[in-house]
Amino acid sequence: MPVAVPAANSDSDVSAKLLDDEVPTSARGARPRLLTGDRPTGPLHLGHLVGTLRNRVRLQHDYDSTFIIADFHMLTTRNAPEQIAEIDANARGLVLDALSAGLDPARVTFYLQSLVPEVMELAGLFQSLVTVNRLERIPSLKDMARDSGQEMSFALLGYPVLQAADILAVRAEAVPVGKDNYAYVEVTREVARRFNARYGEVFPEPETIAGDVPTLVGTDGQRKMSKSLGNAIALGDPAPVVRKKVMGMYTDPNRLTADTPGRVEGNPVFAYLDAFGADAATIDDLKARYRTGAVGDVEVKAYLVEVLESILGPMRERREAFAAPGLVEALIEQGSASAREETQETLRRVRSAMGFTGVHRRLARRAARTR
Ligand code: TRP
Repeated sequence: MPVAVPAANSDSDVSAKLLDDEVPTSARGARPRLLTGDRPTGPLHLGHLVGTLRNRVRLQHDYDSTFIIADFHMLTTRNAPEQIAEIDANARGLVLDALSAGLDPARVTFYLQSLVPEVMELAGLFQSLVTVNRLERIPSLKDMARDSGQEMSFALLGYPVLQAADILAVRAEAVPVGKDNYAYVEVTREVARRFNARYGEVFPEPETIAGDVPTLVGTDGQRKMSKSLGNAIALGDPAPVVRKKVMGMYTDPNRLTADTPGRVEGNPVFAYLDAFGADAATIDDLKARYRTGAVGDVEVKAYLVEVLESILGPMRERREAFAAPGLVEALIEQGSASAREETQETLRRVRSAMGFTGVHRRLARRAARTR
């Protein structure tokens, strides 16, 4: 079904044009499939752009691409009613972030996990294929428990199994993710292998697709960029905010004046220039001058602002083009219906491979004899 553009609304003219494409969102043709996504906990930032978003944009032409808004996953660390009440607004923000980065809404599918409840059944069926010991050895789960100030919940321990269900529900072959998700794709591969060996070939063994920069350091130069650590530049940040964040960035703490030789290694300003700059000659020149104390922090930072704006400026324009009320929501609604159908089809194959279909048929046949 082609994406329905909200009725006559002058604001949505640009979006209407962008959405007017022959490719139907629900057509799942011969192309291999890809699934990835995010929890609806807040806006995406520069780390997401180089960790996974650029891959998503690049791969949307070759893969039938589905993007999950993983609200059930969010519950593993944030399950307060106030946090649940923010899911729709955050989901809208995630989709706008993705569209601003260049995903084509006529080509890809966005869906909200809680609108596909069957994924929980699939995750439940996978639970007997993974040991507690295996999950307890995944470091990022312990980090998430620690960062949330909570004890490891049963749900958090099962996070990778639910993620395996998301990925295998659409029988995806590729999963473009940042470094902190590699371990979950490993679990997914194990689940697929074990399921296929025990019950018959149903699932592909999906590949991780690594980003250009698997982990981007935050503006504090200490930990990886993360919204909750307050060291992130969001993709939707207005230009003055970007400038302020860059000008306040950590650089080389030992460098007190512009003529002190500075350190380029471990300096997040140069890490960002490497990740986002296109002009290698200018960057090399700045590095050389920085090392000898021939350029000030302010000049390097001003150049970084320019580099980031050349990327974020056009993204702000694309975001505007999709901002018409209801447009993103319609995409999520239709995408969820499509992902749900696909998940139901996978479950039919799973129940059949496992033998449940036979069990249920025999039960029904015998029950019918008494009528
Ligand atoms: N774990 C992802 C995150 O870091 C979110 C997610 C849930 C996901 N299910 C997925 C990513 C399936 C890729 C594939 O927020």
